[in-house]
Amino acid sequence: MKTKKITKAIFPVAGLGTRFLPATKSIPKEIMTLVDRPLIQYAIDEARAAGIKEFIFVTSRGKSALEDYFDYAPELESELRKKGKTDLLDILKDTNMDSGAIAYVRQNRPMGLGHAVWCARRLIGNEPFAVLLPDDVIAAERPCLQQMIEMYAETGGCMVAAMEVPMSKTSSYGILDIAEDQGSIVRVKGMVEKPAAGEAPSNLAVIGRYILTPKVLSNLNRMKQGAGGEIQLTDAIAEEADGKSGVFGLRFRGQRYDCGSKIGFLQATVAFGLSRPDLGGEFETFLHELMAMQKAAQ
Ligand code: UTP
Repeated sequence: MKTKKITKAIFPVAGLGTRFLPATKSIPKEIMTLVDRPLIQYAIDEARAAGIKEFIFVTSRGKSALEDYFDYAPELESELRKKGKTDLLDILKDTNMDSGAIAYVRQNRPMGLGHAVWCARRLIGNEPFAVLLPDDVIAAERPCLQQMIEMYAETGGCMVAAMEVPMSKTSSYGILDIAEDQGSIVRVKGMVEKPAAGEAPSNLAVIGRYILTPKVLSNLNRMKQGAGGEIQLTDAIAEEADGKSGVFGLRFRGQRYDCGSKIGFLQATVAFGLSRPDLGGEFETFLHELMAMQKAAQ
């Protein structure tokens, strides 16, 4: 199938992050760090590895730390240069974006993920695009978005990253109504936002990676109010299930951490800490000792 190359990605970062209050009173959730890199850096690295060239942030008040993070830091860099700290200068290089590669649009009220994506419509135009939610961090041999873009080249249409969740947890996710299950890829006939356990059409949940056609933006234009009074992205995608090109879910290979929740953030911190060659050994010893101390104290 002939599909257009995906070169633009939207990063919606305008949410309030209330689950991390009080920290998020003054720090954007996306700047919180897993070991030594903020959540947003993991999402940007994944997008770059998948061939994304234009990065569109949907921001809100109080998120200026994010803009600064991707800018040059002339004083810091010249100080490091003077001290010959080339290793640290190399680390900083990953955070610098070329002029014009990154664009910011504002969502002036948190009206939901669908509304946030819609805010970027003028920068997307008439081409397919990716959406990455930085609070979903995915550890994978091949980056999740790359897996999706490769599969999209075969299927066309819209694609969401999908993973199996326990039936008791369906009310926390958008859930796929499956028309045809082909293993790693499923064709979708509908999507339900946060269904109660007994009412979920499957246990295959949508997580924060999407490839969308511009048609989804025109669906959002109609601004229907879905579950919870917010403008839901899943509703706008689901409308495409009956369309010519369809909607697909990809069971990606990798481990997803929900860093928008405290428990997910803690799990990711431990997993990423353990996997770091420079820290893993010492950290593992510490965890064993801590567990042993806690057991002894019981
Ligand atoms: P969440 O559902 O995690 O909401 O949004 P939140 O506000 O970030 O966090 P809590 O629930 O209050 O703790 C998922 C993603 O969608 C973005 C968020 O920034 C996050 O990346 N989002 C959500 C927006 O950009 N705008 C919105 O109106 C809502």
